[in-house]
Amino acid sequence: MSDTVTIIDNKTGKQIECPVLYGTYGPPVIDTKSLYNELGMFTFDPGYLTTASCRSAITYLDGEKGILMHRGYPIEQLAEQSTYLEVCYLLLYGELPTREQYDGFRADLNKRNLVHEHLERFYTGYLYDAHPMAIMVGITGALSSYYHEALDINDPVDRDITAKRVIAKMPILAAHCYKHAMGHPFVYSRDDLGYVQNFLNMMFSLPNRAYVPNPTAIRALDLLMILHADHEQNASTSTVRLSGSAEANPFACIAAGIVTLWGRAHGGANEAVLRMLTEIKDPKNIPQYIAKAKDKDDPFRLMGFGHRVYKNYDPRATIIRKACHDLIDELNTVHQPLFEIAMQLEEIALKDDYFIERKLYPNVDFYSGIILKALGIPTSMYTVMFALARSAGWIAQWMEMMTDPDFRIGRPRQLYIGTEKRDYVPMEKRSQRHD
Ligand code: SDX
Repeated sequence: MSDTVTIIDNKTGKQIECPVLYGTYGPPVIDTKSLYNELGMFTFDPGYLTTASCRSAITYLDGEKGILMHRGYPIEQLAEQSTYLEVCYLLLYGELPTREQYDGFRADLNKRNLVHEHLERFYTGYLYDAHPMAIMVGITGALSSYYHEALDINDPVDRDITAKRVIAKMPILAAHCYKHAMGHPFVYSRDDLGYVQNFLNMMFSLPNRAYVPNPTAIRALDLLMILHADHEQNASTSTVRLSGSAEANPFACIAAGIVTLWGRAHGGANEAVLRMLTEIKDPKNIPQYIAKAKDKDDPFRLMGFGHRVYKNYDPRATIIRKACHDLIDELNTVHQPLFEIAMQLEEIALKDDYFIERKLYPNVDFYSGIILKALGIPTSMYTVMFALARSAGWIAQWMEMMTDPDFRIGRPRQLYIGTEKRDYVPMEKRSQRHD
């Protein structure tokens, strides 16, 4: 059995052999690099449904079986036994750290857990009610102005420092977005607190009263961040890779990833789910929203449902659903009604042929907003939380790309369907050709 596929142009009879490449898991891929030179054709795959853009060893997911692994470790085990900071180390370096490696990693992050005092001035340019994702795009992009001249992206040491700067500083930028909206003074990062507790402290501590976070809240947020840390070549990660392939500043690449994640079809869905659940308000209204979601003439979609890859239950949604249940029971928050609506909406949708036929299941965003709400994080900050968690995956994927033997600038082609060649017409001779 030769590891090739034959592509035949039935119009000319010309055929080529394309190599088939096999990975550790997942479908093999057809190497079509020679297609244009040998057949004069491009592949056509809008939305990249069946296009592998790179080799990667970081994350593997199987949409049919609902499998998600980071560096070979199943997400269920990482969710149960690891911490977000340990998963950051795993994504970056490929192995779980020893105690010494972990402590060294934390010490390195603590050396970088301040931002230049001038960065605070950027926030004042935003209105108090500016969407925090708009702020995050600007501020993260601005970070590239502090680390540019001295940064050599071809130097592995500089790349490692960059990765630690991103992981150390993103919580600060995110918390400052909230403080800016609240009109509260910014809170400095603290070396003596764990990563997630430090973030919650930067979010909620005030000059007139210390913030003593609930251990349950810390664990719930840590779990949520583990589940959002990386997810293969999703839209925002692909954006970071494409920007990085042009050798752009890595902080600017992360800002580009934030832009893409903000879309409601992607990371913006967690905020959209909460708004949808709040709009539904009462379980008796669920049928009318299900009908809207099925109506082709209605742009409404059931936020938090469906996924490009998972055609089975998103394993992260299963984990978050349970965590949601436990947290609400434990914190006995007022958000029980939202959770009730979410569970009933899920139950009704999963029995509906429209969703069954299209394999539409709850995804990571369906329940995450309820946990964030229970933690007192405002709805407008939900996608910022997603960006904060995913920044580890983005910078890990950027690091991997920078050492990829296939590294080259990404430049897709197209199928041109425009006008045929024509000559320029002076304005006085032009007729009103189109309305
Ligand atoms: C994330 O890629 C990743 O890994 C992303 C992510 C990550 O961790 O990085 O997992 C995070 O982005 C999760 C997805 C969050 N988005 C949402 O919850 C928004 C709602 N979902 C949809 O917009 C949609 O399901 C997408 C965008 C997630 C997936 O879109 P696809 O794969 O392009 O699917 P499609 O649009 O081709 O839909 C197929 C069919 C269509 O109907 P038909 O034309 O076949 O009749 O399913 C329908 C769609 O209309 N459909 C939905 C629906 N999602 C798809 N109908 C109603 N409600 C929905 N949510």
